[in-house]
Amino acid sequence: MVARCFLFHTSANWGSERDKVHLNELLRVPFPLPGHEFVSPEAGQIVNQVSQKFSKLRTRLQDTFNDLKTDAKRSSLFDDDVTISKQWQRERKKEFYYKKAKKEGYRARSSYKLLQIDKIYHIFKNSSIILDLGCAPGGWLQVCKQKAKNAFILGIDLESIQGISGVEFIQGDITKEGDLNKIRNKLQDKADLILSDCSPSVSGVWSIDHARQLDLVKSAYKISIDLLKNKGIFVCKIFQGEDFNEFIKEIKAHFSFLALYKPEASRKKSSEIYVVAKNLKN
Ligand SMILES: C[S@@+](CC[C@H](N)C(=O)[O-])C[C@H]1O[C@@H](n2cnc3c(N)ncnc32)[C@H](O)[C@@H]1O
Repeated sequence: MVARCFLFHTSANWGSERDKVHLNELLRVPFPLPGHEFVSPEAGQIVNQVSQKFSKLRTRLQDTFNDLKTDAKRSSLFDDDVTISKQWQRERKKEFYYKKAKKEGYRARSSYKLLQIDKIYHIFKNSSIILDLGCAPGGWLQVCKQKAKNAFILGIDLESIQGISGVEFIQGDITKEGDLNKIRNKLQDKADLILSDCSPSVSGVWSIDHARQLDLVKSAYKISIDLLKNKGIFVCKIFQGEDFNEFIKEIKAHFSFLALYKPEASRKKSSEIYVVAKNLKN
């Protein structure tokens, strides 16, 4: 009889891709191998221990994968910002507003969210200086240009965008003071309307992504307090979750009108909602 040996290692980062492959290969092998016997009882014991250990690891791995899958699903609450899977991409392509945006020449389906917000809250009326935070790829900028033809429009994003005639753009980070100075230098005056559709790059872990998004909204809010004219309008995307109510209260204290609105173009399952705050009280 030939005794078989498995070479294996355990390590702190047992969840690495390489380990998953190793484990998958090993776990498919039944213990003991059919047609083989253990050369000694000790060898049998060791193999059984190894087998049990892998069985526990397998359960842990399965739990971890399930958690990750749940997190990935919940992160799809980030609506059009996340590319989770090929299946998700396929679903997106079938989606009504995605097709509509392609057909009507908008760079993002989110353009319809802004159009729907404007239909109810008339945010472009009297807006002659507009700042769009987190503007790439430029779907909202296109709407701004369309709705406020003569306005001075400035967008900022970490990513570069394809130019839009009559629209100024800064590639930068809204959380960096240096980039905020660039905005201040470009704006001719304080703004009438500040928009923020900012979303962080997604880690896939919902709690982390949620906290990052809230940090971004808070930065956008600070910018609006600093750079909006008296009676100016602030519109931002926010995800409902921990600290949401508290933050809404804070915004309410500075504006005389505040509404929470979920445009039809925003997916039902998404926890995103838009804050429309009007009449900044300076
Ligand atoms: C949902 S997309 C905006 C879509 C845009 N409203 C449109 O219609 O095309 C969110 C954007 O926020 C940007 N973003 C995230 N963090 C940022 C930051 N710290 N500063 C500037 N932009 C940021 C991302 O790069 C991303 O392009």
